[in-house]
Amino acid sequence: MTPVSKRPRVICHMMTSLDGRILTDGWPLSKEGRQQYEQVHATYDAQGWLCGRVTMEQHFAQGVRPDAEIARKHHGAPRDDFVAPGEHDSFAFAIDTHGRLDWDTNDIDGDHVVAILSARVSDEYLAVLRERGVSYLLCGAPEVDLAEALEKIAARFGVRTLMLEGGGKINGSMLRDGLIDEVSVLVTPVVDGRIGTPALFDVDEDHVTPRRLELESVEKRADGVLWVRYRVERPGG
Ligand SMILES: NC(=O)c1ccc[n+]([C@@H]2O[C@H](COP(=O)([O-])OP(=O)(O)OC[C@H]3O[C@@H](n4cnc5c(N)ncnc54)[C@H](OP(=O)(O)O)[C@@H]3O)[C@@H](O)[C@H]2O)c1
Repeated sequence: MTPVSKRPRVICHMMTSLDGRILTDGWPLSKEGRQQYEQVHATYDAQGWLCGRVTMEQHFAQGVRPDAEIARKHHGAPRDDFVAPGEHDSFAFAIDTHGRLDWDTNDIDGDHVVAILSARVSDEYLAVLRERGVSYLLCGAPEVDLAEALEKIAARFGVRTLMLEGGGKINGSMLRDGLIDEVSVLVTPVVDGRIGTPALFDVDEDHVTPRRLELESVEKRADGVLWVRYRVERPGG
């Protein structure tokens, strides 16, 4: 019998330049061209999306906490995850190992905010999240265990399909750990060229093994944007 995966299906969905860069500010694209990202996103029947801490900080959270607060660590007994009361059927997951992000609201455009934290974050931070109605999952220490996070996302929130939406470092970590099933890229007719800016997959290690993906489909969209889909074989088959 084929084992049933306890993780959601993960689709890494991104917009890139021809040279694989992902900071879209200043790209000469029409409004329609830019809209392809959300339009294609809507074709997936996803219950949630997930971003790295930097992307959440720059685009969605209300700031970062003071360093002295982030430095406080929990060394006591394990604590429980928290699922905020209320009816939620779509979710925004923020990977935030150290609990840096400040959330004033538990909602991003109708999606319920869930922080994915290491078990080392302080009791004070967890209390603030509970008070603001932000759910959280404690997944590993001192680093976040990404595979465990995906299992909890499925088990606690019923997410079957999850969009992984950058940036490059969280995408790189998830690919390295064999946690991506599909890559969906909107390749724009733009050459960026800014050396040192984030790319579609960034892995911060000395020895990175290049991966081959299997091409699924290519579709020409508005404004010369290509939608390219690749299947990612999970390690071992
Ligand atoms: N074009 C697009 O479609 C698109 C989509 C999304 C984002 N972006 C752009 O991407 C840029 C950010 O990319 P980025 O690569 O710098 O940042 P990122 O991937 O958003 O966030 C990186 C952070 O995520 C955390 N992280 C990474 N790997 C982890 C792991 N294995 N376990 C736990 N946490 C991990 C770390 O946070 P800590 O430092 O807190 O440990 C790391 O600093 C933004 O400027 C955004 O505009 C573009």
